[in-house]
Amino acid sequence: MKERTLAIIKPDGVSQRLIGEVIRRLEASDFRILNLKMVRLSRQEAEGFYAIHRERPFFQSLTAFMCEGPIVVLLLEAEEAIQRLRTLMGATDPAKADTGTIRRDFGSSVERNVIHGSDSSASAQFEISFFFDESKNSR
Ligand code: RTP
Ligand code: MG
Repeated sequence: MKERTLAIIKPDGVSQRLIGEVIRRLEASDFRILNLKMVRLSRQEAEGFYAIHRERPFFQSLTAFMCEGPIVVLLLEAEEAIQRLRTLMGATDPAKADTGTIRRDFGSSVERNVIHGSDSSASAQFEISFFFDESKNSR
């Protein structure tokens, strides 16, 4: 089934000049880019986006990290997009991620792991509408 999901190239990915490499891997893996933009999140926006993690010990650090520089937000479409994006990304901790995944190849810590991807269809819906006006997402 064709699905939509949201990916973010995090500030560490942008600062390491990995925008092209991440997009290349996504397109090579048959993801269609329906929309994309570079933005700089305010602390309040980062807290809103990651509100699900509010009670986690890493919340302050995560939201500070997500604001430290620009990010690239991508609206993606593909067969089984949600699960396949997570597979391409690899595990949260780059040291535990499979060989050949984006996080294994470029991540530097459990926090600074280059890419975000929606983890369910409910989170994809929330995250897509957080960044994009749905009426402008067709292609
Ligand atoms: P994401 O939401 O960014 O795609 O990552 P994920 O599903 O693999 O991991 P999640 O548990 O949702 O955590 C969100 C992000 O928080 C940072 N984190 N830091 N210090 C820590 O123990 C820790 N754990 C998670 C990472 O940037 C992680 O991607
Ligand atoms: Mg997550």
